[in-house]
Amino acid sequence: MSTIYTAAVLTLSDLGSKGLREDTSGPALCEILRGDGWDVVHTEILPDDLEQIKAALMRCADELGVCLVCTTGGTGFSKRDVTPEATKAVIERECPGIPEAMRAESLRITPRGCLSREVSGIRGDTLIVNCPGSEKAARECIGAVLPALKHAIEMLRGWSGNCAGTAAHGKEHHHGG
Ligand code: MTE
Repeated sequence: MSTIYTAAVLTLSDLGSKGLREDTSGPALCEILRGDGWDVVHTEILPDDLEQIKAALMRCADELGVCLVCTTGGTGFSKRDVTPEATKAVIERECPGIPEAMRAESLRITPRGCLSREVSGIRGDTLIVNCPGSEKAARECIGAVLPALKHAIEMLRGWSGNCAGTAAHGKEHHHGG
């Protein structure tokens, strides 16, 4: 049984997809995930197009079979921001605690933290996590949930039978031991 934590990082940006804006958020997410021991096996930059985003998410889950898909961008209020809708269309079970944790952390940093409509959910054996589009926001949001993500995959894939050890670890981590 393989216990390699594989990930894909999708950047959703009209300008980025046309090469009109350099994508620093996708590479930042890759760097953070790799630093935490994840194997980032796929990256892609797509326009803010509902059908293209849905298709990419389904490819990552169903064909690549990655443990985790992290998206960045398209979570705001502009008419083209449809990442949460694309995510909701392909997931089978929503994971509200992940965006709740992100927004709680974001609101400690900026009142605009409430303006990201990011969602998270499970499709098959894959966890999908939306992050906002700016590099700063993406770093802050993934940082808020990263300590919990491997355990999420362990439960999802049946790699771990219980939460005992990791729960204690989480307490140490958050409350300083
Ligand atoms: N969250 C954090 N942690 N830090 C930020 O700077 N910016 C907010 C919000 N969430 C921000 C944040 C802003 S200004 C917007 S518009 C939304 O994320 C949506 O971003 P997106 O449309 O680029 O995905």
